[in-house]
Amino acid sequence: AKLSVRDALGAENTSGERIKVQGWIRSVRSQKEVLFLHVNDGSSLESLQIVADSSLDSRELTFGSSVEIQGQLIKSPSKRQNVELKAEKIKVIGNCDAKAFPIKYKERHPLEYLRQHPHFRCRTNVLGSILRIRSEATAAIHSFFKDSGFVHIHTPIITSNDSEGAGELFQLEPSGKLKVPEKNFFNVPAFLTVSGQLHLEVMSGAFTQVFTFGPTFRAENSQSRRHLAEFYMVEAEISFVDSLQDLMQVIEELFKATAMMVLSNCPEDVELCHKFIAPGQKDRLEHMLKNNFLIISYTEAVEMLKQASQNFTFTPEWGVDLQTEHEKYLVKHCGNIPVFVINYPLAIKPFYMRDNEDGPQHTVAAVDLLVPGVGELFGGGLREERCHFLEERLARSGLTEVYQWYLDLRRFGSVPHGGFGMGFERYLQCILGVDNIKDVIPFPRFPHSCLL
Ligand code: 4AD
Ligand code: MG
Repeated sequence: AKLSVRDALGAENTSGERIKVQGWIRSVRSQKEVLFLHVNDGSSLESLQIVADSSLDSRELTFGSSVEIQGQLIKSPSKRQNVELKAEKIKVIGNCDAKAFPIKYKERHPLEYLRQHPHFRCRTNVLGSILRIRSEATAAIHSFFKDSGFVHIHTPIITSNDSEGAGELFQLEPSGKLKVPEKNFFNVPAFLTVSGQLHLEVMSGAFTQVFTFGPTFRAENSQSRRHLAEFYMVEAEISFVDSLQDLMQVIEELFKATAMMVLSNCPEDVELCHKFIAPGQKDRLEHMLKNNFLIISYTEAVEMLKQASQNFTFTPEWGVDLQTEHEKYLVKHCGNIPVFVINYPLAIKPFYMRDNEDGPQHTVAAVDLLVPGVGELFGGGLREERCHFLEERLARSGLTEVYQWYLDLRRFGSVPHGGFGMGFERYLQCILGVDNIKDVIPFPRFPHSCLL
């Protein structure tokens, strides 16, 4: 039978069952009588030990080459592994010149180095672990929402709205093509989506609780360690919700429940990441998971920041958005526990945020979750469900015409509702302690870089 390395390692029957495995050689060690190989196929962090007769011609059995091995699965005499494969037949499928291969045997390559080899870094232990965790976390998020009764929605990537109003869009030609404009395909300007929120709002008006989890795009000219031009966002929208409290509860549960699933489903991969990339991260994560997240208002946050303004490049000021340095300070000041910041000034938030009608300071029911090491991880809030409020806000931004359909949602069976978006790469950074966002996505896109 053909087995994955993972299944071979976990096999119950080790009394010489004949099996076949395929994978890439991770190490070659030759001794007097025997030749030891380690073969990995990405199904687990651990590789399978292959024991072969040293009389075998081993010239082609180099680090990095792909092989197929048939043999008997036996209990290993060594304590370092439970099972090993006693090779009867080894076939090299694809050679690898180990000297020329950018990934070197036994070398601990820095993440910066690996970033320059996006087509090979997935064959290292550390990126292997990160990407398996990414896959596991994706499944955990889907299962969390499924278990909570949410309907999964695929929101479109090509869109005609700029829901965040910041103009940070990748624009397609009106023709629908990137180059040669011939004829109008869409008749309206269309963009790569920055968020599925407005489409989710449509769907929450029928399914009550919905979520989406897909790629989003931002033409932000930022080279920071927490921005990408293409990133994955988890977004949820919930009808009949009329308090930020309820939204924050879902956010906290989503974060904690999925992190626990990841920890219990791939403990070895998480341990490797914590050890290799971020010593101490295990404790920091536990600290986040066992404490209740904190809540402060934007106004309180600005007060706290003003007390410490000598620490900052940007002077904190009411009415101005929080900077990364401010977010990081707030989290630290809150004992490295994630903190919700609520009720932001109306003037710095998009048109859809629900008006708090609170007098001269005029805030909206927005919520951001700030987390250690990353800063903003979630952004969301209650949506303005009252037609006349929304009409006024849209008119002020000159958007009334394009958002008639959005106003319609308030005209025909409107309900209080709210939602949020979570940057999936930032979530992985936060859980694993990965400093640079480019290391938690298989193929990062950012200004001046679109390798592969
Ligand atoms: O705060 P944002 O812009 O919120 C929205 O787009 C809302 N429409 C979401 C909603 O309510 N449905 O983005 C949400 C999250 C941020 O908190 C951040 O974690 C992540 O998306 N994010 C980015 N991640 C990587 N690279 C970028 N350029 C990002 N921009 C936002
Ligand atoms: Mg935001």
